[in-house]
Amino acid sequence: MHTTRVALVTGSGRGLGRAIAIELARRGLAVVVNSSRNPEQAGRTAELIRAAGGQAEAVVADVSSPADVARLFEAIDRTFGRLDVLVNNAGINRDVDFREMSDRQWFDVLATNLSGPFLCSRAAVPLMDRAGGGSIVNITARTAYRPRKRGANYCAAKAGLSMLCQCMALELAPSIRVNCVAPGTTDTAEVRERFDLDTPDGMARMLAPIPLGRIATPEEVARFVAYVALDAGFMTGQDVLYDGGRNLT
Ligand SMILES: NC(=O)c1ccc[n+]([C@@H]2O[C@H](COP(=O)([O-])OP(=O)(O)OC[C@H]3O[C@@H](n4cnc5c(N)ncnc54)[C@H](OP(=O)(O)O)[C@@H]3O)[C@@H](O)[C@H]2O)c1
Repeated sequence: MHTTRVALVTGSGRGLGRAIAIELARRGLAVVVNSSRNPEQAGRTAELIRAAGGQAEAVVADVSSPADVARLFEAIDRTFGRLDVLVNNAGINRDVDFREMSDRQWFDVLATNLSGPFLCSRAAVPLMDRAGGGSIVNITARTAYRPRKRGANYCAAKAGLSMLCQCMALELAPSIRVNCVAPGTTDTAEVRERFDLDTPDGMARMLAPIPLGRIATPEEVARFVAYVALDAGFMTGQDVLYDGGRNLT
């Protein structure tokens, strides 16, 4: 078995997942980077980690596919023989009015954002048991508790993930801790495009309800996720907002 601790960050080819992968590598873990459609992005995250002196392997796998998840965990088992940290970060949005939501838009979002964390967490348990314990962090969103228009699929998936987290925390204690981090709006290309943040009006609309007056950087969210994953040893089954106070307004 590998002596260094090992982390898997799903959906770490870009955005928040990439920042989390880099931060966990900076904290000394070997990191398995993953994405489903863009191998070059996952490869780039792995390269950035290696260039900084860390250890990383990129595996292309769709977390919503049981066969892909089985292949992903076989690769982790073969290369490292253990897993210490799993960050269920991969997520997609297919925002659309409820009346027009297609079967595909519903099932795709549920499959990636909710079934993906289930499949990956279940596969992670034996490898974490072998490592003597582990920590799972699920990336949710305030939409787990607050509805928003055009997001019934996304909100329902994140709400489900929040309860999945609590059930896993109960069943997997004491050896595996399971928590959720719900970041506020974080500066990723996906969010910039979806909310028009490159226009002054779009950014002003976004900032108006955030008491701290800015959106988060992926790096600061990543440091918090690493804290929950590695340092918060007495915390399990929790859902933590990291949102600049957005929940207050
Ligand atoms: N950014 C925010 O403001 C914000 C706020 C709250 C919560 N979140 C949550 O944070 C997470 C990351 O968001 P982000 O803004 O960084 O998104 P992003 O920039 O779109 O990145 C998503 C990553 O997930 C991968 N991915 C998508 N579907 C996948 C699948 N089925 N299997 C494996 N990988 C998959 C993508 O790569 P491929 O396309 O190659 O698969 C990509 O690497 C999501 O769960 C999101 O809901 C984000």
